[in-house]
Amino acid sequence: MYTEIVKIIEGGLANDSKKVQSYAKLLANNLANSGDEKLANKILKVLKSIKGMPVYKDELFTAPVDNESRLNIANIITPPEIELNVQFSNALNNSIQEFINTIEAKNELKKLGLEVHSSLLLYGPPGCGKTTIAQYISKKLDLPLITARFDSLISSLLGSTSKNIRKLFDYADGRPCILFLDEFDAIGKARNDSHELGELKRVINSLLQNIDDFTQNNILIAATNHEDILDKAVWRRFEKVIEIKKPNSKEILDLVDLLLKDINTDVKDDQKKLAVLSHELENLSHSDIKKIIRTAMTKSVINKQTTTSFESLLFETYLHKNNSIYELEEVVKYLYEHNVSQSAITNIFNISIRQVRNILNP
Ligand SMILES: Nc1ncnc2c1ncn2[C@@H]1O[C@H](COP(=O)(O)OP(=O)(O)OP(=O)(O)O)[C@@H](O)[C@H]1O
Ligand SMILES: [Mg+2]
Repeated sequence: MYTEIVKIIEGGLANDSKKVQSYAKLLANNLANSGDEKLANKILKVLKSIKGMPVYKDELFTAPVDNESRLNIANIITPPEIELNVQFSNALNNSIQEFINTIEAKNELKKLGLEVHSSLLLYGPPGCGKTTIAQYISKKLDLPLITARFDSLISSLLGSTSKNIRKLFDYADGRPCILFLDEFDAIGKARNDSHELGELKRVINSLLQNIDDFTQNNILIAATNHEDILDKAVWRRFEKVIEIKKPNSKEILDLVDLLLKDINTDVKDDQKKLAVLSHELENLSHSDIKKIIRTAMTKSVINKQTTTSFESLLFETYLHKNNSIYELEEVVKYLYEHNVSQSAITNIFNISIRQVRNILNP
């Protein structure tokens, strides 16, 4: 019986659910034979309950590893693990939906003789939702997202890089999933870098040629912040290209609305405050805006305040834009000019109303 237990542990550690299941069954049989019906039934009950496991929980989905270091060369997220709280503009939503619709209609389109390539390139500044969109598509299509950071893949141990790239594509080719290549601009660097090993260059060029074949039967999403590094040959490989931008003023309002939804704050129901805050958040990324709101919220919890106030959100925005460096005089003036009352300013900085007035009317 100890053998079964050891095998089950081995299977669990290797993410080999088939092994775990078959040895658990054997263990249950042996227990029943030796008179421990109760424990045997308990094990059989557990085994029955996992029958309906979705395909991506199958043992097929253990991450591919580098042969030498045994480190994962890709990270796998399954749709149930993805939690999304997103706000896309109509135009972006339509583009994403179009990509999803084409994938869903792939079989029908193929029957009509229409060749469909499922490849999407997302480009734009950091923190504006490229990874989020890849996760959103994975959730919508109910397919696991296999993410490889292309830059680290390429700069990993040189000898194994080309092997790893091949391994990654073969791996993704072998199961229903979405292959997500983050930092895809690394491909441009490697192609143009004269120091790069010839072998690696060849692999990358052949991969580029193979993207066409790969995306006939698989889904590929790539993302980059440095679209200028990618040459025309690379752009051409992608069936769909979406530019991701920083949110415009309407999108900021919607994002702030979404982020404040579950927060106790005086901003939500005050259009004027909402407008001032949103205006101050212009030119920032989704990620910056999220960070500002989270930090203000965290500070209000730490300071035992029941609400995250307009002035604290505005102050946090000021700090973010000024790299957390501030002069009291400057920030007091800033807040006052942005509709924060004198008494609210005294609360934030723990100073007297006289001090505030002295700053405002020296
Ligand atoms: N449309 C959106 N709605 C809500 N939150 C968003 C949206 N886009 C991005 N975010 C949030 O902003 C943060 C950064 O997003 P994400 O990681 O997707 O950006 P990115 O473009 O992949 O950045 P990088 O180029 O640095 O990889 C995340 O916390 C994400 O939840
Ligand atoms: Mg990203």
